Amino acid sequence: MKKILVTGAAGFIGSNFVRRALELRPDWEITVLDALTYAGNLENLEGLAGKHGPRYRFERADIRDKAKVEGLFRDEFFDGVFHFAAESHVDRSILGPLTFVETNVLGTVNLLEAVRKYQDISRTRFLHVSTDEVYGALGNQGFFTEDTPLNPSSPYSASKTSSDMFVLAYHRTYGLDTVITRCCNNYGPYQFPEKLIPFMIKRALYGEPLPVYGDGKNVRDWIHVDDHNDGTLLAFEKGRPGEVYNLGSRCEKNNIEIVTLIIEKLSRLLGNDRSFKTPEIAFVKDRPGHDFRYAIDPAKAECELGFSPAVSFEDGMESTVKWYLENRGWWEKIISGEYLQFVKKQYGEKG
Ligand code: NAD
Ligand code: DAU
Repeated sequence: MKKILVTGAAGFIGSNFVRRALELRPDWEITVLDALTYAGNLENLEGLAGKHGPRYRFERADIRDKAKVEGLFRDEFFDGVFHFAAESHVDRSILGPLTFVETNVLGTVNLLEAVRKYQDISRTRFLHVSTDEVYGALGNQGFFTEDTPLNPSSPYSASKTSSDMFVLAYHRTYGLDTVITRCCNNYGPYQFPEKLIPFMIKRALYGEPLPVYGDGKNVRDWIHVDDHNDGTLLAFEKGRPGEVYNLGSRCEKNNIEIVTLIIEKLSRLLGNDRSFKTPEIAFVKDRPGHDFRYAIDPAKAECELGFSPAVSFEDGMESTVKWYLENRGWWEKIISGEYLQFVKKQYGEKG
């Protein structure tokens, strides 16, 4: 049995990762660590303990808590750490950057320190889940390669860039076996309804206007969460120590295209539902420092790791929109309390 630690596993990508890894890697025993912040939700992991028995264990812990993190690594040996835990929403980082520094930078360093002090540094592989946002913005042309200079725009991306630098420093200085992945925008089930796709689906179902920042021409590169997670597994198993791998599926869309597609899909799927009215698009104040375009060149991951995304954007969006329609109970529980306060601050209205 291989012992694996997954941080941030109650969030969107981490929970999809754990579900997939338990199925695909029957020789893995996974300890799941999560602080259960506003974005962490135990329902995302429902059924896993029953289905996988002792191969799955949940540990509530905050990576900012150095003593707790060190205690965990002192008591157990891990063959690998998948580090997903982070504050992940750009707009929240603009409203309040400090938590991003604490979790994304200090929390990551706490984990690296615990590995350095209490694990066998040449045997415990540390897979750091990063983002294409560390490269900053592209114009109409060009792609991000692993050699593109880091040039983050938001407090979120500055904190992720800083954590990447610490991971690379621990590799170079102490010989830690690290791998960094930098993926583009993910979509799929269990995404917190503050991110573009689930947020717009929720607003459309509530008959609320869809707030598109600026002129809606900003471009993001989209990948289904299962393809991201397959790339993460490949990078863990085949990546070279100290290397960075960009993950993407060559699928650029501007925000208006995404929002229009959501409206089309909902209108078709809810055609007979009289309570559904086609929502309006509202162009609202732009995000400060809004990166114009992201586009990943995944050639290194394709050549070295055999990475090859399997989900087409059309199929992935169809199943994603259906998932939010069929799992209304999941997201309706989330959209109260703290969520409403955030939406009020961000959009100046009731959420
Ligand atoms: P998310 O916000 O949905 O989930 C984050 C998880 O981390 C939550 O379960 C939360 O409880 C946990 N967490 C936050 N602070 C913590 C702390 N101090 N201690 C322990 N746990 C803590 O995020 P996500 O979208 O699933 O992103 C996961 C990772 O992937 C992040 O590192 C993010 O930077 C990276 N990433 C995300 C995307 C994307 O499109 N969402 C793309 C590329 C990379
Ligand atoms: O590129 C990877 C990154 O993708 C990850 O590192 C981040 O964790 C993840 O949140 C995501 O960041 P973005 O800022 O690209 O995602 P978001 O869903 O917040 O926004 C996507 C685009 O949609 C962006 O151009 C801003 C725009 N947008 C977003 C919201 C929430 C709107 O126009 N209106 C909105 O209400």
